[in-house]
Amino acid sequence: MVKPDGVARGLVGEVVRRFERKGLKLVAAKLEKVPEKRVLEQYREHIGKPFFPSLCHFIESGPCFLMVWEGRDAVSVVRRMIGSTNPAEAAAGTLRGDLALDTGRNVVHASDSPASAAREISLHFSPEEIVAYKRVDEPSLYE
Ligand code: RTP
Ligand code: MG
Repeated sequence: MVKPDGVARGLVGEVVRRFERKGLKLVAAKLEKVPEKRVLEQYREHIGKPFFPSLCHFIESGPCFLMVWEGRDAVSVVRRMIGSTNPAEAAAGTLRGDLALDTGRNVVHASDSPASAAREISLHFSPEEIVAYKRVDEPSLYE
């Protein structure tokens, strides 16, 4: 997900470009102001933490760009490409390391395990919104 700060800063294309070039396959995407109920559900692991209310309030504050990416080890690959939660500590070359300064405005969200990816995909997308197709470069991407 490109968070509201990333959408407002015009970074949707940059985020999509990096994952596309890596070889991941975009199988669903939509621009949406995510309703409160789904935001609370997405971040339910953080209920009770001091940053939870401001986090949810911010995610609801403007449009997010929601995506589903497919590919070998997609979850761990995407997490590595996003970088550490605090952009000040995120490595150069990662999205957060290159594009952000503040933990509360760190541009992107990504699922942190295959189980959370499955949960978050079904939270935000209906099965009809997930599209199966082939990238023409698949034979060159995988041995
Ligand atoms: P995300 O879930 O958004 O992909 O980020 P993450 O896994 O790297 O970090 P997580 O620990 O899940 O935290 C979720 C989001 O909450 C905000 N946060 N603020 N002020 C703080 O100490 C604090 N800690 C986390 C960040 O926006 C973080 O991305
Ligand atoms: Mg997280």
